[in-house]
Amino acid sequence: MKLKVFKDGEPVLREATEKVESFDMELQTLIDNMVDTMREHNGIGLAAPQVGHSKKILVCEYQTDEEDEEEGYKKFPLTILCNPKIKKASSEQCKMVEGCLSFPGMELVIKRPQKITVTGQDRYGKPIEISADNIQGRVIQHEIDHLNSTLFVDHIKEVSVVFFGTGNFGLHTLESLHRDPQYKVKAVITGSSEKLARGKKVDANNIKLLANKLKIPVIEVKTLKDDKAFKQIKSLKPDLGVVTDFGFIIPKKIFTIPKYKTLNIHPSLLPKYRGTTPIQSAILNGDHKIGVSIIKIDEGVDSGPIIAQTSIKLSGSENYQILHDYLSELGASLLLTALPYYITGDIKPVIQHEKKATYTKILKKLDGEVVPETSGVEVDRMIRAFYPWPGVYTDIKGKRIQITAAHLDKEKHLVIDRVKPAGKNEMSYDDFKNGYREELTFSE
Ligand code: CO
Repeated sequence: MKLKVFKDGEPVLREATEKVESFDMELQTLIDNMVDTMREHNGIGLAAPQVGHSKKILVCEYQTDEEDEEEGYKKFPLTILCNPKIKKASSEQCKMVEGCLSFPGMELVIKRPQKITVTGQDRYGKPIEISADNIQGRVIQHEIDHLNSTLFVDHIKEVSVVFFGTGNFGLHTLESLHRDPQYKVKAVITGSSEKLARGKKVDANNIKLLANKLKIPVIEVKTLKDDKAFKQIKSLKPDLGVVTDFGFIIPKKIFTIPKYKTLNIHPSLLPKYRGTTPIQSAILNGDHKIGVSIIKIDEGVDSGPIIAQTSIKLSGSENYQILHDYLSELGASLLLTALPYYITGDIKPVIQHEKKATYTKILKKLDGEVVPETSGVEVDRMIRAFYPWPGVYTDIKGKRIQITAAHLDKEKHLVIDRVKPAGKNEMSYDDFKNGYREELTFSE
């Protein structure tokens, strides 16, 4: 029978546990129910307090396919321990990613002894001694913690982070890092307001505003080339650097300061679309998919080894703004999912396929100009790629007309919906045709 699993905050998780004295039917039923509950939740370990019983009982089991075994995780059979005690623990420690059924969705990097010898009793009261390493050693230590009113969050060793970001793409990442108890954002390095970020003027630096709200110290920079930024960052002794939409080149002597080096979130399926305008490029080229990559920064442009990557399908109706916002959330969640495994060394960075690399260019206002020879399909892609900036426009008799909305009909012909003539308000295309006696035409 499946039992209710008590979550973080329930007092029973912190109550002292009683020794198991009587190995009766009641105990057998409880143990069976604990095994059922663990298996139902795809857990690999469960302690009695987690199902509301303050008793010294733990169950654990790890059955896996061969693939996981190759990764170095060894399976082990169902293990039931009453009144367990750690008799011996190796002085050698290792870091592993742990989860807990009382903390759904949380994964933390925890350092513990690599090997243990544990004594206790089996479900019938017979004394047993187990030597365990790898996952089994890890799970038994985690569950014995539960029996001692200790939770894995008590073991957190904060990973200190310096965050580099200027544009809005990094907002979700900064907020997620701040919220996760594993990380401590020590400083936000951001472009000073007058400075251009990625070729575009930053109206309000929302990264700076968010950092202020979260009470994270802000270091505003106009360049990272001088020694001042280097010394400031070095003095923070960060464990990890995270970069998103920063707008400045980070010199090697800075990106190598953190123990775990510096990671970058890039909105493309690298090595495709390195550089500043990957989202716009994917829309302009009519790609059927897009994604985010997390790479370890090196001295090239978005050329470092890949830590994690995920892709989404495109329907062909998305504009830049929608994809930017969506990929910014996706990038934040991918980073937070991958980080624990990156820190423990479980993720091996994969070198990018250099021959498949493509590069994107910085956008200019002029890129938004269409002429009668531009095809309808292209105009539609440009409108979506260049929203909100630089927009799409054409000139008629010396007058600039901005096309603000259009779509393709079933035959892939361009249907213009709304336009904005220079110096006038936005209007429907029908009103425009009536007032100006002009039609905008593009090639098929
Ligand atoms: Co647990």
